[in-house]
Amino acid sequence: MKDVYILGIETSCDETSIAIVKNGVEDIATTILSQIDIHKSFGGVVPEIASRMHTENITLVLEDLLNKTQIKIEDIDAIAVTYAPGLLGSLLVGLEFAKTLSLVYNKPLIKVHHLAGHIYANNLEEKLEFPLLALIVSGGHSELVLMEDDYQFLVLGKTLDDAIGEVYDKVAKVLDLPYPGGPVIEQHALKGKPIYDLPKSVVNNQLNFSFSGLKSAVINLVHNEKQKGNEINKYDLAASFQNVAIEQLVRKTREAIIKTNTKRLIIAGGVSANKYLRSEMDKLTKEFNIKLSIPNIKYCTDNATMIAAAAYPLFLKQEFSNYDINAHSTDKLF
Ligand code: KG4
Ligand code: ZN
Repeated sequence: MKDVYILGIETSCDETSIAIVKNGVEDIATTILSQIDIHKSFGGVVPEIASRMHTENITLVLEDLLNKTQIKIEDIDAIAVTYAPGLLGSLLVGLEFAKTLSLVYNKPLIKVHHLAGHIYANNLEEKLEFPLLALIVSGGHSELVLMEDDYQFLVLGKTLDDAIGEVYDKVAKVLDLPYPGGPVIEQHALKGKPIYDLPKSVVNNQLNFSFSGLKSAVINLVHNEKQKGNEINKYDLAASFQNVAIEQLVRKTREAIIKTNTKRLIIAGGVSANKYLRSEMDKLTKEFNIKLSIPNIKYCTDNATMIAAAAYPLFLKQEFSNYDINAHSTDKLF
């Protein structure tokens, strides 16, 4: 069969990214322009600024990408783009750009759900084999999903309140640490000891998660200590928080492994960049003698490579989109 080259576009949040992927598995070229330094000063992503930055940068990102490879847009087989979920204005920039490229170069358009992108980022390491259990941990999602085949998702459990990445970001904020919170909390935790007593989640006997109790406990602890005039040890609090948060992910994933008797576990989403999570999941899968797949760190957080990879199974099924597709801030994949 002829090789398939897909150009992917991702603008759902604060990264403007375009990539070319061959046969859904090989990263030919990727460009990611992060806006983090701009949003940092506001303590989080400002939607209006994000969409304006995408508009300003998207053609530069494409130019940079095309400079990295011999592949021309004429050689591309399809244009893939994230249509949901995310910041509406940001998604629209990518979507309109994708529609324009598709129209001008006469290439089919493929809409891709952002979470499918995170899942299929694993294909850039090794082709997914089914059935598998997926743990999705990002800024907006925490879910355990069973996949029997490509694009077949059965949700086994999800967060009843906050997503894990969101809680990392909130904890960083209350400790006056910069956005995004995940990497900075991870670094602080390395220098601390888990000496603060924080509550474990009490969602028993099912595969749902809950992180809001832990988040409130951290916020209350910081406020109470401040009121008493006591110093908080940020390193120790980061270590204490991370231990409890990841213990819950491991505990629920363990239950799901037992329940499904799965032979494969994949991890997806921005929080999968966390090295402590990676090593705990490595231990868990070794204990059950099952296969673990986690994307390379560079594909864990938002990127267009994963969007092009996720479009490949849709390309094979000829699931192309019309130009009337719209962006959606929330849209269920599962
Ligand atoms: O997948 P992602 O890039 O965007 C969404 O789709 O939400 O995930 C972003 C989330 C943020 O909450 C960020 O703090 C978290 O992933 N994150 C991490 C790490 N790197 C990013 N959380 C924990 N440890 C990390 N190393
Ligand atoms: Zn994401």
